Amino acid sequence: MTADEQKKAAAQAALEYIRPGMKVGLGTGSTANHFIRALAAKVRLENLDIECVPTSGQTNQLASSLGLRMTTLEKHPLLDVTVDGADEFDGNFQLIKGGGGALLAEKIVASSSRYMIVIADQSKQVETLGKFPLPVEVVPFGVKATAWKIERALRLLNLTGKLVLRVKDGKPFRTDNGNTIIDVSLGAIPDPNRLSIYLNNVPGVVEDGLFIDICSIVLMGTDKGVETFKKAAHRPS
Ligand code: 5RP
Repeated sequence: MTADEQKKAAAQAALEYIRPGMKVGLGTGSTANHFIRALAAKVRLENLDIECVPTSGQTNQLASSLGLRMTTLEKHPLLDVTVDGADEFDGNFQLIKGGGGALLAEKIVASSSRYMIVIADQSKQVETLGKFPLPVEVVPFGVKATAWKIERALRLLNLTGKLVLRVKDGKPFRTDNGNTIIDVSLGAIPDPNRLSIYLNNVPGVVEDGLFIDICSIVLMGTDKGVETFKKAAHRPS
């Protein structure tokens, strides 16, 4: 199975968790896109009254074009479930997200859901987070000063990281919110919770890509089928 086939299988498996009347958060990225297509087909076939909240303009466009009914967090501040991909997940259901640059909306939407399901191919499973550079969304104003303060925060935690301002088509990458992203290569993140707290204390940092205690189910596509990991204690419903 290719990685894309594994993503597709995981996306298909997530349909099992969708019930009539649900308000569903839709993630961003290639795996989330598989889920959006599969969900749209299910909604059409079963005439389901599902409403969805997108985590990016890109997702909104795809989901709307497939006929899914879109809504907002303003109308529904508590969603039933969010289904999204991830750049990495570990054995404690902690994630790195933001490879596609949608981490802020993804974190707001997922944390506003009764539970979050991550769908992923096998390559996303890690023992320790951090091989994937950690995306940190920052406001463009004073970005160098913010980068310096991020480095200082890393030093306080005895971490060494390489900071790279994300570039797309030769220009600084802009998120849907007009911010930019600093990708922080750390190699390993021994204490993701502590790092997230330190990063979010830096003025100029809008959000970091560490999803701590947000995800409670991971569906991972493998060559042998989809493996399900469930956290013992689900977030309260
Ligand atoms: C977007 C994300 C994605 O979920 C993450 O980058 C995984 O992407 P893909 O499903 O394309 O492998 O966090 O901000």
